[in-house]
Amino acid sequence: MKILRTPKELQAYRKDLRGSVGFVPTMGALHKGHLSLIEKSVAQNDHTIVSIFVNPTQFLPGEDFEKYPRRYEADKKICELAGVDALFMPEASAIYEKDEVLIKAPSQKGYVLEGHFRPGHFDGVLQVVNKLLHLANPHRAYFGKKDAQQLFLIQKMVREFFMDTQIVPCEIVRDDDGLALSSRNLYLSPEERQKALLIPKSLKRAAKLIQSGVIKTSSLKEQMLQILRPLKVEYVEIVDRKFDAIDDIRIGDSIILVAAYVGQTRLIDNIWI
Ligand code: PAJ
Repeated sequence: MKILRTPKELQAYRKDLRGSVGFVPTMGALHKGHLSLIEKSVAQNDHTIVSIFVNPTQFLPGEDFEKYPRRYEADKKICELAGVDALFMPEASAIYEKDEVLIKAPSQKGYVLEGHFRPGHFDGVLQVVNKLLHLANPHRAYFGKKDAQQLFLIQKMVREFFMDTQIVPCEIVRDDDGLALSSRNLYLSPEERQKALLIPKSLKRAAKLIQSGVIKTSSLKEQMLQILRPLKVEYVEIVDRKFDAIDDIRIGDSIILVAAYVGQTRLIDNIWI
């Protein structure tokens, strides 16, 4: 497996590749969620490139940029064993200049939900994903449904900028207890982890209610909030696949999203109905 440190190295490596290229951008501290994206790329492409870059511009002041887990050696091993061909691990100084040309997330869909509680977050995500897609120039790029709004905005950017990459959405991977895997789960104490299970529990409850015929999103949200009461909930929202709020569930076109704090740790999760 090649380790590439600079944009120039990645571009030179990419230029010589023949056949299809899959790309999996990550911030590292890799877990089985990331691995599922990597395995899909390895299965679907002749070459797979993974990036690990804790992107400073998508963290707000006061967020966890400094303490975000960095586990480069373990991550390298995971990638190597999974059959990754090249790992791109740049320094921030190799990615960003001063006073950059900026990408702005769309003013409506980029500033609701995650974008409302983390204003500017998606500007940073789109800025870095745009750069990474240009560098890796992949046929396919893999993103998790776990970050549903991120996935939506990246698909939108790729379409609007006429970029020649297919975005492949990937299912959410959960631990045996139902908690969606996240690098931030490493912050949780055992007690907090137990409390965090209320999040998938609330989503499962909503799915059950929908199965039994409840489709009013206001009733569903109310029931979920009851379950989530011990947590500091930022939002429980139900939207269609275009991220517009809806009054009634439409099967095959709805997403139920939760963001909540468990202690100091902010977790997000969702379910696609
Ligand atoms: P990161 O949080 O490391 O996630 C990298 C990719 O893994 C994202 O597409 C995310 O949705 C996916 N992922 C994370 N947990 C998952 C799970 N439990 N099941 C399935 N997929 C999961 O998302 C980012 O990094 C960054 O914002 C990035 C896109 C790399 C830009 O900096």
